[in-house]
Amino acid sequence: MPTASTPETSATGTSATGASVHEGAATVARPSPGARIGWAWVLLSSIGIAAFAVTPYLTASLRELGEAGTGLAGHYDGQPAFVQVAFSVHIVFGGFALVTGPLQFWRGLRDRMPRLHRWVGRAYLGAVGVGGLAGLAIAPFSQAGLVGFFGFGALAVLWLVSGWRGYRAIRRGDVANHRAWMMRNFAFTYSAVMLRLWVPALLVLQIPFAGEGGFDFDASFANAYAAVPFLCWLPNVVVAEWLIRRRGLPSYVVASAPVARVSQPRRRASAAIGSR
Ligand code: HEM
Repeated sequence: MPTASTPETSATGTSATGASVHEGAATVARPSPGARIGWAWVLLSSIGIAAFAVTPYLTASLRELGEAGTGLAGHYDGQPAFVQVAFSVHIVFGGFALVTGPLQFWRGLRDRMPRLHRWVGRAYLGAVGVGGLAGLAIAPFSQAGLVGFFGFGALAVLWLVSGWRGYRAIRRGDVANHRAWMMRNFAFTYSAVMLRLWVPALLVLQIPFAGEGGFDFDASFANAYAAVPFLCWLPNVVVAEWLIRRRGLPSYVVASAPVARVSQPRRRASAAIGSR
């Protein structure tokens, strides 16, 4: 019997390990230990990064934080007022989305308190909307320059679009597509965690390549920061799509009918070759 602490499970009745249990008339998946550990990691890392990266910005003005060398405060302190406002708004709403997102994948909570799931979901999507628009506004001013503009800009658009698709799906009662889109959407939210794991990892990776003058932290940081606007979210999407397929949820199809029509004669041809 799934407990209240069970994370996300399959809509089709088969768990990640293929095991399924019957609960009343419905077949309900029993999450594997791996799925539970994965969810616990996502929850704890999200809370940890929200506390570590967001909280400092709530304690003082951008000017004071910039002088203290906190995060990107110094960079944004010199930007136009609307960028500074968007930066602060982005951090607050992004932090909210990061902390509430994992709770939505907790099946026990969804089953026991569906109203809470709906209200937290609305708040989460609202935070994605505001945080995404603010992210879009600050992307052209990114410390990573043009790479930051394209990487964070694309992330912001995908964050907004996936949230909208998830919302539209549940409004028309399409639970499977809602779950798939919300998994994709949270993969984008989770970029906030991955960014802060990739930067130190890329710094460490550069240590063996230090020149005669020793390890140049500023140059290495600039290298790492040039990669993360894309690296913080691209692998997440691949993992999300893999999880979506593993759970039997509707996976993203880039091309369908035209390819099928084109491949038809080829299949016949290869069948003919095979039958020789
Ligand atoms: C998923 C869509 C997101 C986009 C498009 C996005 C975009 C951005 C951009 C463009 C910056 C400025 C980076 C720079 O100047 O180089 C930034 C910084 C920041 N974002 Fe996000 N972000 C997203 C999600 C989040 C989330 C979920 C959080 C929650 C923790 C968050 C928290 C922050 C923080 C704290 C900073 C300041 C970083 C620092 O001080 O080092 N962001 N974001």
